[in-house]
Amino acid sequence: MAAKRSVTTASLKGRRVLVRVDFNVPLNPSGTIADDRRIVEALPTLRYLETAGARTILMSHLGRPDGKRDMRFSLRPIVHRLSGYLGLPVPLADDAVGIHAIEASARLKNGEFLMLENLRFHAGEEANDPAFVAQLAQLGEVFVEEAFGTVHRAHASTVGVAKRLPAYAGFLVQHEVEELSRLVDAPERPYVALMGGAKVADKLPLLKSFLGRADALLIGGALAFPFLTANGAHLGATPVEPGLESEVAEFSRIASEKGTKVELPEDLIIEVPGEKLGACVPANAVPEGAIARDIGPRTRDRFFTHLQGSKTVFWNGPLGLAEDLRFAAGTREVLAGLSTLPGFHVCAGGDSARVAQELDVVQAFQYVSTGGGAALEFVQGVELPGLALIPDAARP
Ligand code: ADP
Ligand code: 3PG
Ligand code: MG
Repeated sequence: MAAKRSVTTASLKGRRVLVRVDFNVPLNPSGTIADDRRIVEALPTLRYLETAGARTILMSHLGRPDGKRDMRFSLRPIVHRLSGYLGLPVPLADDAVGIHAIEASARLKNGEFLMLENLRFHAGEEANDPAFVAQLAQLGEVFVEEAFGTVHRAHASTVGVAKRLPAYAGFLVQHEVEELSRLVDAPERPYVALMGGAKVADKLPLLKSFLGRADALLIGGALAFPFLTANGAHLGATPVEPGLESEVAEFSRIASEKGTKVELPEDLIIEVPGEKLGACVPANAVPEGAIARDIGPRTRDRFFTHLQGSKTVFWNGPLGLAEDLRFAAGTREVLAGLSTLPGFHVCAGGDSARVAQELDVVQAFQYVSTGGGAALEFVQGVELPGLALIPDAARP
């Protein structure tokens, strides 16, 4: 994808700049921040705005409060963390729109920041309601899109405001577009996609998109189960996502038509109720009552052989139930192997980035996206509404 018009080309001094960030960070059950990478990755743009003398108004969502004011989803803890990083007070307007937000944004001086409370406290955000868009847009004179994780959503703060104000891309968005484009526009071959995780129906379009584009597609995790079942495997008591038979059959037909090598597990680590340790069985014969939880060592080796020959690797989705250390070896060993290999390796997906960190294998990747669904859609080659509205950078 072409580079987007950069915030560095905007006139910013003394202007009210409305910045969409994605501070939808994972929270611990107690409400504290579990991982602040999305805040940290936005800092270069925010520091740039401060130095440029902009009057910055930040907007974000957190969680899915479904249009209702629910203080469990308040941005208060996020603002606290952000002002620590910036070394500046960042006041929080207690409502994203209305008289207080208007007054607080009008009071901003050059180089100062204001954050608006959770956009999704208003139903108008997700509905991209014109009245809500107008209320947001009047707070700023320039729009900066820095919420890469949310560019797949056509919401008021992503597309609505971008249509009403001159729109620019922040550094994180530019960086994500540049790195992820390397997977879409002429990736260096062989290009291998390594996919796992759980939500098969959600991931089928992405899997399909690799057919004919990637040289090999390695499928592990619970994602492999409907494919194994379609091949006649018995998976014992393993939960297999139902209702996908015809889509899986179509997938296999296209795969053989396009000649993309699709690898499924040949052995699996199972959990047997009442037994502590997992056992390894052939992937077509999980015993009655047992549950498949991870790929086995032969599968790991086979996946690694494909990775060894590759120049570009995309990884999304743990290859087993990696939160349980008994079933983390598949993911850990394959990614540890990947970390020894040259090439351009990208990780995307909320759970994937977390698991890579927990298993201490992030060093396998040259790039870890801050996007979950947005990164997956980008890699799939889908046009993302939040990016489509930012003009391309002028050609030199
Ligand atoms: P991402 O958020 O990175 O796109 P997903 O949400 O699709 O990834 O999947 C992550 C979840 O899939 C993890 O919590 C992981 O433990 C689970 N998972 C992967 N393989 C299995 C399996 N064999 N059995 C149960 N859960 C699995
Ligand atoms: C994400 O975490 O993927 C983004 O913040 C978008 O959140 P959503 O899936 O609730 O729209
Ligand atoms: Mg997930």
